[in-house]
Amino acid sequence: MRSKARIGLAMVLAMAIAGAASAATSIKDSKHDLSSGSAATVKGNTDQICVYCHTPHNATQNIPLWNRNNPVATGFTLYSSVSMQNTPVKNGFTTDSISLFCMSCHDGSTALGAAAVHNNPVDQPTGITVADVAGRTSAGHLDGASKYNLTTNLADDHPVNFLVTSGADPNIGTVTGATMKTGSVTNGFPLFKSGRGATTLECGSCHAVHDNTDPPFLRTTMAGSKLCLGCHIK
Ligand code: HEC
Ligand code: HEC
Ligand code: HEC
Ligand code: HEC
Repeated sequence: MRSKARIGLAMVLAMAIAGAASAATSIKDSKHDLSSGSAATVKGNTDQICVYCHTPHNATQNIPLWNRNNPVATGFTLYSSVSMQNTPVKNGFTTDSISLFCMSCHDGSTALGAAAVHNNPVDQPTGITVADVAGRTSAGHLDGASKYNLTTNLADDHPVNFLVTSGADPNIGTVTGATMKTGSVTNGFPLFKSGRGATTLECGSCHAVHDNTDPPFLRTTMAGSKLCLGCHIK
């Protein structure tokens, strides 16, 4: 009787833990969890999660305690068009652009681990190794054929790292006061502070890097294009 009750309790606990994990409000076990114990396919040889991107001390960039050696900011081409009401930027990121931080893995050439990680984790003092997975990673970086490799040409991607000015485009929701993020918000989506100003649109305006509740790491669902309609009055 007693042991049966114990098994029952263990099962309830196991289910509760599984339930919590599947709610996926944490980075843990998402594709951005590159730790050795992660459920992700692409991962490295340390069981730390945050170290691939953050460090508690001696960061490469103060905000957000960044632990990566980013690619050269000027090496990117960004979207631009004559119909944009805000001023698009064609050539290069600002060095503090949160989007450049994403591109330190999504450019398809910067290593995920190894020398791209500034401070090594205590359990891997000589550096992080990320094992290659056919079609996904090669030589420790995202593979050329990976759909996650956006390349350094972002002219074919939604504009990023440009200043969003209140009222510049009447079809864009209002830009309001600062949040705990580094900038402000448009209709509830965060804008960031960068060298271009305090309200720049970045990858992180649409993507929640730590939270895969709405895959792929989106700020809200794409059902009915809710994300797009959150900013665009269309
Ligand atoms: C794959 C890279 C990556 C990993 C791994 C990662 N972060 Fe982040 N984190 C970012 C980026 C990029 C930002 C800034 C953009 C943003 O806030 O959306 C950020 C911002 C933050 C912030 C400040 C703003 C916010 O969104 O709350 C905190 C706190 C934070 N991360 C904590 C953590 C912790 C703790 C871990 C490990 C459990 C972790 N991060 C793992 C990339 C990462
Ligand atoms: C430390 C490296 C790293 C950084 C920094 C990083 N990513 Fe990723 N990201 C990855 C890897 C690895 C994958 C999964 C690749 C695979 O499974 O083949 C991924 C996958 C994704 C996906 C697809 C998820 C899915 O379910 O299909 C999105 C979207 C994404 N990243 C967005 C971002 C954004 C936005 C940022 C910056 C805010 C960012 N990433 C920063 C490494 C990174
Ligand atoms: C305007 C919103 C928006 C911005 C800005 C944005 N993304 Fe995305 N991204 C999306 C949406 C929506 C999807 C999912 C598309 C789909 O599957 O319909 C996506 C998908 C992705 C994927 C997965 C690709 C795939 O084929 O599965 C990656 C990786 C990614 N984004 C990275 C980034 C990075 C890095 C940046 C900044 C340079 C960025 N995104 C900026 C909205 C955005
Ligand atoms: C966080 C707010 C935000 C979200 C979410 C968002 N956008 Fe945008 N988008 C903007 C802003 C701001 C501009 C620049 C508008 C301007 O200056 O005219 C823009 C520009 C564009 C442009 C280029 C317009 C031009 O004149 O060249 C297109 C197309 C576009 N967005 C489509 C989308 C789609 C599709 C989605 C959903 C996948 C989306 N956007 C999600 C804020 C957003």
